[in-house]
Amino acid sequence: MRLPTSSAWASVWTGAAVVALSLTACKPLPPSKPSSQWTPQEARGAAVFEAKCARCHYPTTTHSLHGPGLQALTKLKSMPSGAPPTDERLSDRILHGYGMMPSTDLSDQQLQDLLAYLHTL
Ligand code: HEC
Repeated sequence: MRLPTSSAWASVWTGAAVVALSLTACKPLPPSKPSSQWTPQEARGAAVFEAKCARCHYPTTTHSLHGPGLQALTKLKSMPSGAPPTDERLSDRILHGYGMMPSTDLSDQQLQDLLAYLHTL
């Protein structure tokens, strides 16, 4: 072959395209803590989520159900609204509702457990 450079460039570009595609295909988010490693509190929080939040939010993706998916919620700089995902802000959203989201009645214990669970997402 007289022009090895052109095929070399072709493989470089193919490699770059594959990398670019895989980056856009699955936006890398920090991994969730596997359920097998949940603390008792996180497991109780998961049950609260199942009972009070799961009908409107997916915990394992960022795709919307009725509200935004909550994967990696507390590991990102901001929530979908742009507000930082602090425990104070989350508690306020949960207890008092926010926009289209209704308020949820929780005991202090349930709220603490739920927050612990949200940190595993
Ligand atoms: C009836 C459906 C519904 C339920 C139940 C519900 N949510 Fe929501 N949630 C929504 C909707 C809709 C939004 C988007 C609100 C908006 O932007 O107007 C939202 C937004 C949020 C947000 C993003 C707030 C922000 O600042 O961007 C968080 C976090 C959240 N919900 C957590 C929860 C948790 C935790 C629970 C369980 C206690 C819960 N939600 C229960 C519908 C629901």
